[in-house]
Parts: sequence; C-alpha cells; structure tokens
Amino acid sequence: TDAQHQQHFDAKLAADISIEAKDWMPDAYRQNLIRQIGQHAHSEVIGMLPEANWLTRAPTLRRKAVLLAKVQDEAGHGLYLYSAAETLGCSRQDIYQKMLDGKMKYSSIFNYPTLNWADVGVIGWLVDGAAIVNQVALCRASYGPYARSMVKICKEESFHQRQGYEAVMALAHGSEQQKAMLQDAINRFWWPVLMMFGPSDNDSPHSAQSMAWKIKRHSNDELRQKFVDNTVPQLEALGMTAPDADLTWDEASGHYRFGDIDWSELYQVIKGQGQCNHERLQAKRQAWENGAWVREGAMAHAEKNRTRAA
Ligand code: ACO
Repeated sequence: TDAQHQQHFDAKLAADISIEAKDWMPDAYRQNLIRQIGQHAHSEVIGMLPEANWLTRAPTLRRKAVLLAKVQDEAGHGLYLYSAAETLGCSRQDIYQKMLDGKMKYSSIFNYPTLNWADVGVIGWLVDGAAIVNQVALCRASYGPYARSMVKICKEESFHQRQGYEAVMALAHGSEQQKAMLQDAINRFWWPVLMMFGPSDNDSPHSAQSMAWKIKRHSNDELRQKFVDNTVPQLEALGMTAPDADLTWDEASGHYRFGDIDWSELYQVIKGQGQCNHERLQAKRQAWENGAWVREGAMAHAEKNRTRAA
C-alpha cells in the first residue's frame, strides 16, 4: 500500500540510504527534484554563454585553450543533469522547451554581462567557487543519480575555480590598469554571486521540505556564509576588496559578517528583468532553431534504416 511505501521511503531517508530511480517515491519528491535538477541543468548550459563571449578574445592561446575546455565541461554538466532528471520520468525535450519558453528558471547569475576579460576570471573564481560550495553539499543529496552526478561535476568545478583564480592572480600582479579592471569586475559580481545561493532562509519556500527530504543538506544562508568565509581570505591575498562596507571578521562566531543583500534585485532578475535575460534566451532559441536540420536529418536517417531493415 501507499502507506507502506511511504514508511519504507522514510526509513531509507532516516538511514541515509539513497533513493534510486526505480524505487517508490512520493510524487511531490519526484516533482521537486525535476524542478531543481532541471533548473540546475539549464543553468549549466545557459552558463556557457557569458564566458563563450570571450573565447575569440582571450588574451593568449593558452587562456583560450583553457577557457574552451571549461566551457565544454559546462555543456557536459548540463548533459549529466538532464540525464539525471530523465531518470525521474520527465522528458529532456519537454523541460528544455519550458526553459526556452521562460517557464522554467535558470541561475540568476548568468543574466549579468561579461564586459571585460577580468569578468571571465572572476566568473571562474567567484561564480564557480559559489557553485562548488552548493554542489559539494548536493553530493550527499538523497536522490542517488543526482548525488552521483555531482561528484564528477565538483571535481571539474574545482578545476574551473582554480583556473579563474589563476587568471585573476595574473591581473592582481599586473599593471595598475589591470588591477583596476579586476577590482571593477569584483565590484559588479560580488553581490550577484551572493544571490546565487537563493533567498534568505525565511523567504525560501522550498527549503524546509527539501531539507526534510535530505535533498538539501544545508540551508541557503548556511551555504552563503560558508562561501563568504572561504572567499574573503582569497580577496585579501589578491589585494582586492569587496564592495561591502559592513564586511567584518567576527571573532566570537568565527565568521565574516556581511551587509544586507538587495533582494529586490534577485527577484527582478528571476522575473526576467535582469540585464541579459532576453539576450540569453534569445541565443538559446536561435541555437535550437539552427539545429533543426540536424534533428530532422537524424530522424530521416533512422527512418530510412528502419525501412531498409523491414
Ligand atoms: N537564480 C534563479 N532562481 C533562483 C535562485 C537563483 N539564484 N535562487 C532561488 N531561485 C528560485 C528557486 O528556484 C525557486 O523557484 P521555483 O519555485 O519557481 O522553482 C524560488 O527562487 C525560491 O527559492 P528556494 O525556495 O530557495 O528554492 P530551492 O530550494 O530550489 O533553492 C537553490 C535554490 C539553492 C538554487 C537550489 O535550487 C539548488 O541548490 N540548486 C542546484 C544548484 C544550481 O542550480 N546551481 C546553478 C548555478 S551553478 C552553475 O551552474 C555553474
């Protein structure tokens, strides 16, 4: 019976035994995972755009090769995550279409423009750094296929974070102009990166249930704090600052205290009114339309093979 199934499911969660694709699960658990994993997959593929913008203008061949590899990794992450979502019974095409139609979200951070080369380094360092803090926690998510996909993704993300830090280190040790360029990129990305972790715990409608289901192991605010604690020493090592006058070390708690986040900005961006929302979706729609002949060709080829076999 359903009650027995539920009991069995609850017992597995309590014992930290992962839930697998063929196991019984409450429908709301399944739907919540499709929402989060789908959104996560969309973020990976939309996230290719801001950095791809600099592929043709990378300052050296080495930087270009590294950036190309990194952008390709993001496509791979999208593919693992779409596959993980499909194990829950959704169709990849359906959720992809929902993203193109603006009916499914992707991370707010990718709606900000990359104005100069320093932005590319800062994305690797701060954006991928924030993504790792969130994704390391997801390696222990209760749904097996999602958790396992996170393990490889985290290994690649830590390479991305290091390539970003290495790029910003070069700027930090460069000319006054390069230093100023880096500081400007940090100033623009700092607050949007803190917003990546989602609304504060009091305003996060999914958190309580997702934590009870052990999909989320830490709250949005806990992960944001962890990121700030990790990152401030790195900022200092670079000789840079955060655009936050309230950022201070709190000896008693062993954490950095930071200023208030302008939540209205996050909600505006999520609603589709960020600087690049229109441009990002337009690029993805165009790519989908430009690929139509490939899909049609593959279908025609499969059909021809079927007829021949018959
Ligand atoms: N950007 C866009 N939407 C967001 C963001 C954000 N930074 N933060 C929260 N939201 C959305 C949520 O998706 C949710 O919307 P929905 O109900 O329409 O689905 C709503 O705001 C309320 O937020 P929460 O209740 O806090 O939602 P949730 O429990 O899903 O937590 C979080 C949000 C932390 C982002 C979670 O979904 C998560 O961990 N996702 C996986 C990680 C991820 O997607 N990373 C992508 C960026 S990293 C990268 O791609 C390199």
